[in-house]
Amino acid sequence: MKDATVIGAGTMGHGITQLLAMKGYKVTLLDIETEILEKAMSKIEQSLSKFEEKGSIEDASEVMGNIHSSLYDPKDHLEPFKNAVKDINIAIEAVYEKLAVKREIFELLDRLTPKNAILASNTSSLPITEIAKATKTEGRVIGMHFFNPPQILKLIEVVKGEKTTKETVEKVITLARKLEKKPVVVKKDVPGFIVNRILIRLLNEACATLERGKINKEAIDAALKYNAGIPMGAFELLDYSGVDVFYALAKAMKKRGFNITIAKSLRKKVEAEEYGRKTGKGFYDYQKEKKPNISKEKADEADFLALFAPAVNEAAWIVRNEVATRGDVNVATKFGLNYPKGLVTMAKGWGIEPLKETLKRKAKEYGEEYKPDPFLDKLLGG
Ligand code: 3HC
Repeated sequence: MKDATVIGAGTMGHGITQLLAMKGYKVTLLDIETEILEKAMSKIEQSLSKFEEKGSIEDASEVMGNIHSSLYDPKDHLEPFKNAVKDINIAIEAVYEKLAVKREIFELLDRLTPKNAILASNTSSLPITEIAKATKTEGRVIGMHFFNPPQILKLIEVVKGEKTTKETVEKVITLARKLEKKPVVVKKDVPGFIVNRILIRLLNEACATLERGKINKEAIDAALKYNAGIPMGAFELLDYSGVDVFYALAKAMKKRGFNITIAKSLRKKVEAEEYGRKTGKGFYDYQKEKKPNISKEKADEADFLALFAPAVNEAAWIVRNEVATRGDVNVATKFGLNYPKGLVTMAKGWGIEPLKETLKRKAKEYGEEYKPDPFLDKLLGG
């Protein structure tokens, strides 16, 4: 598999393009907006120069030489799209999360790519089966869900639709390994797959805790960063990947049956168009500083275990419902979220009893969605 096309030049699309190019693939990056495409190419250049400085790649311009960018219009300027996909081995779609838009792209890919090419979607919230239905060759449609930044984070969730063939899954696993990533096959096409089900619980709980009014965001983030030992606090991560992205994700998951009361503060940030780093303001202000200042001194003002309890509970749901094994949940959280260890291993260290007590207390105070999962003991036992 040496030739690829990525459709959509946003955060994930340009990161995936860069990753493929760094590993020697010839990639075309397609978008429908000049500004997005230009911004994407300049971000790739910046990121490559960081890798070059560190010596993890030898020559940034050689990698840039593997990337070709192209504008197209699905209505009246389709030629560049046709040319970009006619000889490829794989297409990876990373456009925004609207089923109708994705289906339109997959319908085109189905008609215009060689019949043995893989058609992958980086969707985080939509069912692969529904995307695949836009094609006549559903067996080659698959989810390849990367994590931000895809150049650095090691996980790829491989998501099978109802008709995805074994051969397609195997080809994607081989590709993931060539990209030096850790593929984890998601056994059921559930909303949020593995990692986002867990992550949304943590981020939403951080927001709900903030709204309850006793603990500030710096303390919440400090507890997560310094006491739980994860790379970013919840608000720091919301701002980093985009509050709008996580809000849309939570809404899409809820619409598909995920039982969650979405925190009001998420909606308010989105309504105020304070999406995080990309708009200069989110939960933190980025006008003056590139990164929020999260002081270690505040770390004991919040209880990281209480923040994490709903996420651990979700991990129990995932294993109980055979979406993934306990081992896969560990691999997925370690490599998709850059945790020091897998979440199940981390939670075992925190202890089953305090986690259960916290969930019971929260269930009484805030509602059923906190009720300890019947599999929690088994998840953390043994
Ligand atoms: N390109 C190249 N290098 C980069 C880079 C990029 N885009 N971003 C960061 N780096 C490098 C920096 O140069 C730095 O290198 P150095 O250590 O040699 O100096 C190193 O990575 C660390 O960067 P920073 O010092 O700027 O910041 P951090 O130490 O905080 O690391 C991080 C950044 C790797 C992003 C780390 O904070 C992290 O892993 N955060 C968690 C991110 C996460 O959870 N992502 C998943 C989100 S969920 C998702 O994507 C799913 C979707 O469906 C919503």
